[in-house]
Amino acid sequence: MKTLDRGGCARHTSCVRLVCMSTTNAEPLDLIPELDTLARSRISAEALMKAIVTLLYEKLGRYNWVGFYMLEKDGGEMLVLGPFKGALTPHTRIPLNQGICGAAASAGKTIVVDDVNSDPRYLACSLETKSEIVVPVFVSGKVAGELDIDSHSLAAFGTADRKLCEHATAIVGQFLEQGSR
Ligand code: SME
Repeated sequence: MKTLDRGGCARHTSCVRLVCMSTTNAEPLDLIPELDTLARSRISAEALMKAIVTLLYEKLGRYNWVGFYMLEKDGGEMLVLGPFKGALTPHTRIPLNQGICGAAASAGKTIVVDDVNSDPRYLACSLETKSEIVVPVFVSGKVAGELDIDSHSLAAFGTADRKLCEHATAIVGQFLEQGSR
C-alpha cells in the first residue's frame, strides 16, 4: 500500500512525497496477534498452515522461504513437505537423519543456523540461502512436524524471530491436538 505523506517539506505546505507503507519488514512480535486471529478461525490444519506461511512470508522480507514439513503418520521417519511459500525445493521428503530439518525433528528442539554454509548438516535448497531456523510442531508432547524458514541474509533469525516461530508452531500443534481428540 502506498500513501501520501504531507510532512515532507518544511517550507511549502502544498508539498507531498510518496511514502511506501509496505509492511514487508514488520517487527516479528507484532505478528503474534495476527497469528492468534488465524488460530481462532475454524479452518483445516492445512489451511491454517497455508495462512501462517503466507503471513510470515509476506510480512517479513528476510523470510525468503517459509514452509511446513510434517512427519508421515503412523510413526513414520520421513518429513514430508506441506504448505510453503518461496522457490520450489528438491527436498520434498527428508529422512529424520538428514539435514537441519531432520536434526530439529529428531531432537525436538528449535535449531537456528546463522551461516548454513558452515553447517555440515545443511541440505541446500537454494544457493542464495544464508541462514535458517527450524522449529518443531508438537502434538500431545510428540514431534509431528516443523516450520522451516530460510533467509538470504546471514544470521537473520534472532530472539524475536524464534519467539514468533515457536508461537506459530504452538498454534498448529494445538489445532492438530484438538482435531485428534
Ligand atoms: N535446508 C533444509 C532442507 C529444506 S530446504 O531448506 C527448504 C535442511 O537442511 O534440512
